[in-house]
Amino acid sequence: MMGDYIGVIGDLHGRKIALGVSGGVAAYKAAALTRELGRMGADVHVVLTEAGSRFVSALTFHALSGNRVWTSLWDGGAENGIPHVVLGRGIDAILVAPASADFIARLANGLAGDLLSALCLARDCPLLVAPAMNRQMWENPATQRNVATLGNDGVVIIGPGEGEQACGETGLGRMLEPEALCEAVRAFFTPKRLAGRKVVMTAGPTFEAIDPVRGITNASSGKMGYAIAAACARSGAEVVLVSGPVALPAPAGVWRIGAASALRMRDEVLAVLPGADVFIAVAAVADYRPVETAGHKLKKSGAAMQLELVPNPDILAEVAARPDAPFCVGFAAESHDLDMYAENKRRAKRLPMLVGNLLADGLCGDDNTVVIYDDEGRHPLPRAPKALVARQIVEHLARLLPTA
Ligand code: CTP
Repeated sequence: MMGDYIGVIGDLHGRKIALGVSGGVAAYKAAALTRELGRMGADVHVVLTEAGSRFVSALTFHALSGNRVWTSLWDGGAENGIPHVVLGRGIDAILVAPASADFIARLANGLAGDLLSALCLARDCPLLVAPAMNRQMWENPATQRNVATLGNDGVVIIGPGEGEQACGETGLGRMLEPEALCEAVRAFFTPKRLAGRKVVMTAGPTFEAIDPVRGITNASSGKMGYAIAAACARSGAEVVLVSGPVALPAPAGVWRIGAASALRMRDEVLAVLPGADVFIAVAAVADYRPVETAGHKLKKSGAAMQLELVPNPDILAEVAARPDAPFCVGFAAESHDLDMYAENKRRAKRLPMLVGNLLADGLCGDDNTVVIYDDEGRHPLPRAPKALVARQIVEHLARLLPTA
């Protein structure tokens, strides 16, 4: 089992991506995109059109990608003197970002008068295009016709987004932000192992109010749960994330419902549970809550204070005990004896799968070291960024999930 996980060091690890940059103000965002794709493990080869080079220099892309930047069809430096063929070898995808109205028109008509169009025409790999232009240009029937043609030709169109534009107008046409584009590329490469599945999740801490401004909570950042929600969405699942208070944006394609307390979290989970194939409980739910919440801010008296606590319902145990229970995945964060406690929790709550980690390994940080427990035993994953650990957890769960 370990073998499945070895060698994965980045989400797009080992993917060779040609990033085409055509002319448009959004070319400046392509610099951040180059770095973000590289951070995900991709080997990025930038192809800059003549118009693109008016906005950002080849030197910037060279420095950010670590690879030479291709600019001309007539580049004598390429082997055989045919740069679009040399460059096209072994490429996993071409991403054109920004794709100007002019470049989209060239693509739709199969033109090949410059290196980037020639590369696209001679490709043997998927083509992803992120349009970037002013609102009128985007709305123009010619552009709409060209985009429809590309869609029919199997080209993946990412965006455009809506908002303020460089020309001062507001509307549809701006290129998506580098993070969103990177997410789209990651989603493109993620096998749709959870297509057609509904996943309900909890994540983050809970907040058990003592009075209107104070409460009992814990140090959970929500990062692991949010990374798993993103990985499930990328794998094609419909994801509903019931989240405690965290400082994280909702992942792309995930429906987030805020729920501060354990009682509220339980109610929200039960409300969205019908039809769920999977329930993943990542939240660090407080085991106890104050027996009552003061309606006003409590004043100090100087004397010792007693706070009476009552147990909270165990959301995961309750869901797993239902006759129509979905496939349930639990989490256990322990300070010692991980194997014993984790396996005991898995059995006590009758879970087909549980993910355990030592508190010292990952409560708030960006990396985590986890062990998956299932009916076949324990499966340790190598220490990795939470996004990558999340992907491996989702792959494991997809393997165990009964066929629909
Ligand atoms: N869980 C839950 N509802 C609760 C408590 C826990 O859904 N009220 C879920 C968590 O999301 C996690 C798992 O159950 O998936 C954790 O199990 P648990 O035994 O409750 O962990 P701890 O609260 O850490 O238990 P202990 O204090 O005994 O270590």
